[in-house]
Amino acid sequence: MLLSESIIDQIAEAIADQGYIVIEQAIPSELAEQLRLEAQHRASQFKPAGVGRGSAHQRIEKVRSDDIQWIESGASEAQNAWLALMDNLQQGLNRRLFMGLFSYESHFAHYRPGAFYEKHLDAFRGQSNRVLSTVTYLNADWEPGWGGQLNIYGRDGETLLNTVSPKLGTLVIFLSEDFPHEVAAATHERFSIAGWFRINNSNTTRVDPPR
Ligand code: OGA
Ligand code: MN
Repeated sequence: MLLSESIIDQIAEAIADQGYIVIEQAIPSELAEQLRLEAQHRASQFKPAGVGRGSAHQRIEKVRSDDIQWIESGASEAQNAWLALMDNLQQGLNRRLFMGLFSYESHFAHYRPGAFYEKHLDAFRGQSNRVLSTVTYLNADWEPGWGGQLNIYGRDGETLLNTVSPKLGTLVIFLSEDFPHEVAAATHERFSIAGWFRINNSNTTRVDPPR
């Protein structure tokens, strides 16, 4: 399963023009469904996410309250297919935008009812090799009244640019250093995959969450 060239074109153009994009039904539906089932099945093994400050790996419940599990090559067919899809995207973006994306890491996330992630940046200039963030949602039939939206803000941290409902197959991509964002609490459990493309730069003092 691959992303179509036209979806990669659309992503590259949006990243170059505005730095972010939200695409509904971007993930091949069969893969989205496999990942959804896998996340549900594994949720009881997920661990509280940490928020990194250098080597201090702490859980800060005030900031975020999701549980996560890192996606690993070889863990399952669905995880392999997900990593292959993101590798396909990495190559497509490098070819179009010369971004020098070097590797990709991602985790499943489970937000229980009431769980949230306060407004944050995924990377701080000069302090991380994470350059491009991805979020994909694994919730069938999400109702607007349930909350759980991703709010994306402009560089000033105040201007609301977009509100994304966490529906199955929606893919959000944004420059990690440029867009503060937050996950609102929901009345229902909420599954997602958050991921980051990295450049090859060993100057990594801050990652969130640390591995
Ligand atoms: C993250 C994140 C957003 C979401 O994990 O860094 O911002 O909608 N997740 O799950
Ligand atoms: Mn984030």
